[in-house]
Amino acid sequence: MAAIEYPSTPASIPLHHHQATMEASRSSDAERRQKEENLAKAKANVQRIMQLYHSGKPLFTRTLLKDLHEQIIQGKDKVKIPTWNGEAKTYSLEVPKDLAERCSIQRLTMFNPRLLDLLLEPPTPVSITYVRDPSPPRVTLKVIDDTFKLVRREWQESETCSNLEGSFVKPRFDPEAITITKIVAFGLGTLGKNNLGQLPVRSYAQHAATLTIAAVLKERNISQGLDVQCFSQDPWYNETDIEFLGGLGITVLKDPEGFLEIDEQTLVFSVGPDVPVRQIVADVQWPAAMVWNSPLSEVQINQGMYWARSPMEADPDSERVGSMLRNYDGAQLDDQADYFGELTVYARRPRS
Ligand SMILES: C[S@@+](CC[C@H](N)C(=O)[O-])C[C@H]1O[C@@H](n2cnc3c(N)ncnc32)[C@H](O)[C@@H]1O
Repeated sequence: MAAIEYPSTPASIPLHHHQATMEASRSSDAERRQKEENLAKAKANVQRIMQLYHSGKPLFTRTLLKDLHEQIIQGKDKVKIPTWNGEAKTYSLEVPKDLAERCSIQRLTMFNPRLLDLLLEPPTPVSITYVRDPSPPRVTLKVIDDTFKLVRREWQESETCSNLEGSFVKPRFDPEAITITKIVAFGLGTLGKNNLGQLPVRSYAQHAATLTIAAVLKERNISQGLDVQCFSQDPWYNETDIEFLGGLGITVLKDPEGFLEIDEQTLVFSVGPDVPVRQIVADVQWPAAMVWNSPLSEVQINQGMYWARSPMEADPDSERVGSMLRNYDGAQLDDQADYFGELTVYARRPRS
């Protein structure tokens, strides 16, 4: 299927690496000249992006995502996305037959500065990629239902669950100061994925946790007594997931609808997504609260780790994510059972 690809914040590109590789190769003069031209072009493109990024230009604008969404729902075969230079680039929504064989989701969703070719054309902030549905068809609704009941019971009895419930307390979550009526989740994964005969416990627990958060927000009046609406976006969801999650009251959204659904009374729940959810949210809409991957430490930030680690990560920190987080109070979630990895629960500070 065709899926939207979000390269993360432009990284500082180790251009000397390309230079060294090229100098080492024994190519003809013409080839060498071509490579030098390509290198100069790639360098200029990267520098232009860095310049625009540092000037404060948002990478992921609501207008861009809304326009892309409208093109998709109109059922077009091709969509147009503006590049950083404002030109339009066209992407096909039809899956090319040969690509489905060659590309893994990891390769297609990673912005790899070592692949010089990718840097030759001015990039678009989002693009279209092609992924294979990872759920084997034999995982039925009944199997998913039985597994969910089992995992949900274990989840509810776990310390991680009590710790999560215990995170939604005053002073950070004071119903007088904060209202949350909606949860939008990202990257929780399909429930039908069968890894060597094992269904993905983490994904089951993360969907159960979505319901736990919704219940706690209502019980503690943080939703002002309203039922909390639950949405979830993950391109891996198949028809069985959509039906099952719908039965739980979780509405599945197609990319990029999840990002467009976020408003000031939303809690964003994201666990190890393959896309830079934190950077997109920092650009598109600051929510009331987040439960998402913990940031780098102050020491790592001061050492410039934003840039050094970014190219290899799907959901990296960035300066803009850091600036956004300075407006929130966060507390790291203790998750000994490893249902999530390292997550932090954030609430937006009241604006004075
Ligand atoms: C590494 S898996 C994490 C799964 C699960 N949260 C866990 O902790 O085991 C990354 C997930 O991000 C999802 N993903 C990829 N692109 C996405 C997008 N545009 N929006 C939301 N989720 C996305 C993938 O389909 C996958 O389920």
